[in-house]
Amino acid sequence: MLLGSGNLASQLGPVLTMAGAEVIQVYSRRITHARKLAKTLGASATNKIEKISTDADLYLFAISDGAIRLVAELLSKHLSEKGNYIFAHTAGATSKLVFKGLTKYYGVFYPLQTFSKDRLADFSTIPFCIDGNQKLVRTKLTHLAKTLSPNVSLITDEQRAVLHVAAVFVNNFTNALFSTGKEILDQHQIPFQLLTPLILETAKKVQENPPLKMQTGPAKRGDQKTIQRHLNLLNHTPAWQELYQQLSDLIIQQHKK
Ligand SMILES: NC(=O)c1ccc[n+]([C@@H]2O[C@H](COP(=O)([O-])OP(=O)(O)OC[C@H]3O[C@@H](n4cnc5c(N)ncnc54)[C@H](OP(=O)(O)O)[C@@H]3O)[C@@H](O)[C@H]2O)c1
Repeated sequence: MLLGSGNLASQLGPVLTMAGAEVIQVYSRRITHARKLAKTLGASATNKIEKISTDADLYLFAISDGAIRLVAELLSKHLSEKGNYIFAHTAGATSKLVFKGLTKYYGVFYPLQTFSKDRLADFSTIPFCIDGNQKLVRTKLTHLAKTLSPNVSLITDEQRAVLHVAAVFVNNFTNALFSTGKEILDQHQIPFQLLTPLILETAKKVQENPPLKMQTGPAKRGDQKTIQRHLNLLNHTPAWQELYQQLSDLIIQQHKK
């Protein structure tokens, strides 16, 4: 049973069915969203918690972090207390304890990757972080994850919270900087594609070398004249100037150590 039909659920649903798991139903807040994903999985769809199937072994919550507890509370009232089903969520930043007191078996099934609805993800390269309140949960979720990826680890709530912070730095913040780079180029009608080989090489280099060692550029070289020229170029957008200065200071600090 899959709860959610967003960026992650729409990628996870098809690979789970391809790996042999039966997704019997998709629940989503908006029925049109539930139906669209359910159709691709040969599953039924609902947006009503009281219509959620009571037959599932696993209720996989791929919904917004803030909605997990509320939906789980309503769902647990609808399901039999004695059931041997598992509640698991897919979030990096939410404790497994979000399910505490609602069901006997609960855990986490977190794929450490960035997902977008219409972008096919290659799950065979994705690390899965598994956790569970009991050994049985950890075993079952590990088994399911291994049908999708060879890279499956038991990761505690505390470890996952740390991983998630680091992931925000390397993915979300980097992506925000890509956007800023694109806006700067757009203002001068220069195509962003000119930067894509640089973006790819930056990501490739750190797979084999420590990121600190791979740093280049004016801040790393202590080239204040170039830094000042860049700040002047950005003087129509103080927020970008401030960001440029802060990140340059960070690089300078990192290379003083
Ligand atoms: N996207 C990623 O890169 C990624 C990676 C790893 C883990 N995750 C985790 O996966 C989970 C889902 O993330 P996502 O990116 O797929 O989010 P998303 O695209 O924003 O989708 C959110 C889903 O939650 C449902 N939802 C939102 N509020 C709800 C509510 N109050 N009650 C019931 N359902 C509600 C939405 O239903 P409707 O669409 O029907 O409104 C939608 O299906 C999160 O816990 C996130 O941390 C995401």
